[in-house]
Amino acid sequence: MIEIENLTKRFGAVQALQGVSFDVPAGHIVGFLGPNGAGKSTCLRILAGLVHADAGTATVAGHPYRDLPHAGATLGVLLGTESFHPGRTGLETLRLSALAQGLSGDRVAQVLDEVGLTTAEARRRVGQYSLGMRQRLGIARALLADPSALVLDEPTNGLDPQGQRWLAELLRSRAQRGCAVLLSSHQLHDVSRLAQTVVMIGDGQVLATSAVADVPDLEEQYFRLTSGADRAPNNPQQPTPTTGAVR
Ligand SMILES: Nc1ncnc2c1ncn2[C@@H]1O[C@H](COP(=O)(O)OP(=O)(O)OP(=O)(O)O)[C@@H](O)[C@H]1O
Ligand SMILES: [Mg+2]
Repeated sequence: MIEIENLTKRFGAVQALQGVSFDVPAGHIVGFLGPNGAGKSTCLRILAGLVHADAGTATVAGHPYRDLPHAGATLGVLLGTESFHPGRTGLETLRLSALAQGLSGDRVAQVLDEVGLTTAEARRRVGQYSLGMRQRLGIARALLADPSALVLDEPTNGLDPQGQRWLAELLRSRAQRGCAVLLSSHQLHDVSRLAQTVVMIGDGQVLATSAVADVPDLEEQYFRLTSGADRAPNNPQQPTPTTGAVR
């Protein structure tokens, strides 16, 4: 459903992605893991048509995002929560998005209910929302057109434990209904319980693609594979850590 092939992207001196390839089949949850600056968001932004790749392809249901006939119904996207207009209410934000996609107002009420935002909360301005409320609003917007694939960049940021459990259940049930879910996260434990496959990247390259069932200790594998990757040799401004400096 989601196919990333040989994706390459450079920002000036920084090689953000170098030949990244992996798939997310329908009904699968794939966890996308890697240290800060590894290239996860860049990859997801290319998939959502927000950044142009230098080389390679990123397609959903066989098409690049910008060529999808019904983009919102094919790929639901949550890439951070900064893009919301702070002066609009949550309700207005979703209504505008529904209008732009030709969806009925009923869908707005349904997704608000699905993400657990109350009517009173939906009538408040987004600028007054907590981080967790903004995440819920972002997830509601991603779900509006009932998409067949979902891309979520660190959606558990700011969610309380109930919210994290709720999101895990929501993603599980979507996947059971055939949705392909690509989820970037730093929560290794949550990902190991939720995803069938994990893709680990470091310095813009895939370090491993593993079936979760084949990885007895995801944390151990993560640290083993990414040790050194967080030094980001493609970023000359970052000093190389001295061995033994941190205890
Ligand atoms: N618009 C941009 N201009 C210049 N450099 C960029 C831009 N976007 C990303 N980068 C660089 O590309 C690299 C990959 O960044 P990216 O945001 O994809 O990492 P990430 O894996 O999402 O990290 P995090 O876990 O911190 O969210 C980093 O070195 C980053 O500084
Ligand atoms: Mg990121």
